[in-house]
Amino acid sequence: MRRVSVRLKAQNHAYQIAIGAGTLSTLGAEARSRLPVARRVALISNKRVFELYGDRVMAGLRDQGLEPASWLMRDGERHKSLDTLEAALDFLSGKGLERNDLVVALGGGVVGDLAGLASALYLRGIAFIQAPTTLLAQIDASVGGKTAVNLPAGKNMVGVFHQPRMVVIDTDTLRTLPRRELTAGWCEAVKQGAAGSRKLFDQTRTFLADSKEADDLEKLIAAQCAFKADIVTGDEREDMFRTDGRSRRILNFGHTTGHALEAVTQYRKFKHGEAVGYGMLVAGEMSKRLGLLPESELESLRQAVGLCGRLPPINDLDVSAVAGALRHDKKSVGGHVKWVLLERLGQAVILDDREIGARILRSSLRAVMG
Ligand SMILES: NC(=O)c1ccc[n+]([C@@H]2O[C@H](COP(=O)([O-])OP(=O)(O)OC[C@H]3O[C@@H](n4cnc5c(N)ncnc54)[C@H](O)[C@@H]3O)[C@@H](O)[C@H]2O)c1
Repeated sequence: MRRVSVRLKAQNHAYQIAIGAGTLSTLGAEARSRLPVARRVALISNKRVFELYGDRVMAGLRDQGLEPASWLMRDGERHKSLDTLEAALDFLSGKGLERNDLVVALGGGVVGDLAGLASALYLRGIAFIQAPTTLLAQIDASVGGKTAVNLPAGKNMVGVFHQPRMVVIDTDTLRTLPRRELTAGWCEAVKQGAAGSRKLFDQTRTFLADSKEADDLEKLIAAQCAFKADIVTGDEREDMFRTDGRSRRILNFGHTTGHALEAVTQYRKFKHGEAVGYGMLVAGEMSKRLGLLPESELESLRQAVGLCGRLPPINDLDVSAVAGALRHDKKSVGGHVKWVLLERLGQAVILDDREIGARILRSSLRAVMG
């Protein structure tokens, strides 16, 4: 088992991420050692994940003298909503959870975001532990303290920062993850390396190309978490005006086009990470056309994205429709889209769309969309 420490200076809070095969069995003991006076635990999950891993976690909590009760939300992004949040809060109050008690989130990013927000709001905030079971949630969503639900107007529009007491990552859970969810997670892993660390990019690419060893997987997930932790602790609340290569916004590499691809396909065709896979290629093309990124590095990026798994075809989509959707990017500032591009692999730079120009954008879209 490996441990990564996260230290948030501004919030005077530190916690650990435990990573390894079989760590779910230790969650009860980890919870007890961090929360010695907790009595009740609300385990928030969904049916699919709970059927696979719920008994193990419930038994571990009971072994520590805790009183766990489970609440299962419906599966899928559209249930990350205010209605589900309200139902989760009703469950916490119905079970009589008190200030010293605990919420455990067992599932992917949807469960983690919703359970995290419920624990942040209930009684003005109680402790929660993340047990992420998708690759994306393990390397990304569970680290950084962002919690949220969606509004009809857009994703993640209601949320707060609420840091977990602990993150327990059981790498064995990835064995049951559907192939496309793994591909989507690997795209985000490539993104983290490409945007912020050449070493992490190389480690990820080497793992995808050559290795299926359990220990290498554990090492890689730990390195990915350490990277994300490093970025978020340096920019705890995502300063919108920072544009340097260590700001949290670099994690949006590939997301501008990714969001547009999701929007023009009504969120039905792509998993988010798959769309980010294409988005990275578009951002890479733009970087090359602006004279920032050498062709050899762009080729390494293409290879790495290719190693993540097969992405749904994109050549049936209309370039103009995607370009139109780009103008509605929700992370735009003052009406201008901020692009995360690459100066080289592992070194991002943030540019305003006025510095790029429509011609480069269109030709880059065409290069990737065929
Ligand atoms: N808080 C953050 O910083 C942050 C960062 C990135 C993404 N997110 C959020 O994360 C969400 C996406 O998360 P996701 O990609 O994990 O999707 P998800 O939570 O919808 O999980 C994907 C699917 O995999 C299933 N599943 C989960 N674990 C499984 C396992 N071990 N075996 C078999 N099936 C399993 C789920 O039931 C679901 O059907 C989005 O809502 C996004 O906004 C949050």
